[in-house]
Amino acid sequence: MDRVGIIGYGHMGSMLVKGFLTSGALLAGEVVVASKSQESRDACAAVWPGISIAETNTELARQCRLIIIAVRPQETKGVLSEIVPVMDGDEHIVSLAAGISLGDIEELFTGSVTRAVPTVTSTVGQGTTLVCHGRQVGMHGALRVEGLFSSIGHVMLVDEGELPAATLLSSCGPGLLAAIIEELARSASRASGLPKERAVVLATEMAAATAAYLRETGRAPGDVIGEVATGGGVTEVGVRRLREQLPGVFDEAVVSMLERCETVGK
Ligand SMILES: NC(=O)c1ccc[n+]([C@@H]2O[C@H](COP(=O)([O-])OP(=O)(O)OC[C@H]3O[C@@H](n4cnc5c(N)ncnc54)[C@H](OP(=O)(O)O)[C@@H]3O)[C@@H](O)[C@H]2O)c1
Repeated sequence: MDRVGIIGYGHMGSMLVKGFLTSGALLAGEVVVASKSQESRDACAAVWPGISIAETNTELARQCRLIIIAVRPQETKGVLSEIVPVMDGDEHIVSLAAGISLGDIEELFTGSVTRAVPTVTSTVGQGTTLVCHGRQVGMHGALRVEGLFSSIGHVMLVDEGELPAATLLSSCGPGLLAAIIEELARSASRASGLPKERAVVLATEMAAATAAYLRETGRAPGDVIGEVATGGGVTEVGVRRLREQLPGVFDEAVVSMLERCETVGK
């Protein structure tokens, strides 16, 4: 049977299992999971009784044609070195690891390789998985991977050179936006005495509503700023302060994240 293997049942691995099964993209009998600890394997078996749990990564690799490696970047090459010797060579490997290039993986496995970068927001069927196929990936393999990931949100094909910057936006982005929501709420709470929990609820709803407004109306962010920050009003004062400070703050954050992209898999 043409089964899909997922190595690593952490944040991403568990999200993929849940997304693929609940969307109906895969049946439980089509999925095999391996993870390092017995605890994670037991957790997976308890939530998804119909799927196969492999005791080892090599046991999984022997059973699957499509293998998604969802371990941390530093662990990815170790997992590859372990499974490649038991593979036929016509399998398709999908790596989620930041900072591990197609070339790095192709040094160890000469078959089909794809890099995919999902986002934690795929848990709620939102957000974009970035997909970058290696040279060996044929049309059938490409469509299979894109179809699977489109069951948990949007899919965007990107060149490998674009992947670090695209990753910052789509995959690191939820962490960045959550930090902004938290800081804005804390600041409003500090300045006014509004309880922090209520401030967080308001800021979160505002962020979700603003994203929906931008998406559904097709307006550019600048148009919405113009609508809200009317001359002499309250928002205009705040937007002016942000525009003074934010470009420097974001440039620093983006440059340091791109630098980290270079070293995270080492
Ligand atoms: N988190 C994100 O938002 C995000 C977004 C896009 C891409 N990614 C990428 O996705 C990958 C996984 O990230 P994550 O956040 O899911 O990490 P995580 O929560 O730390 O999960 C990693 C899992 O890998 C398992 N593992 C470690 N070594 C293993 C081995 N030798 N064999 C089998 N399983 C092993 C661990 O298993 P045990 O639990 O069994 O010890 C753990 O559950 C990373 O490469 C990351 O760059 C993450």
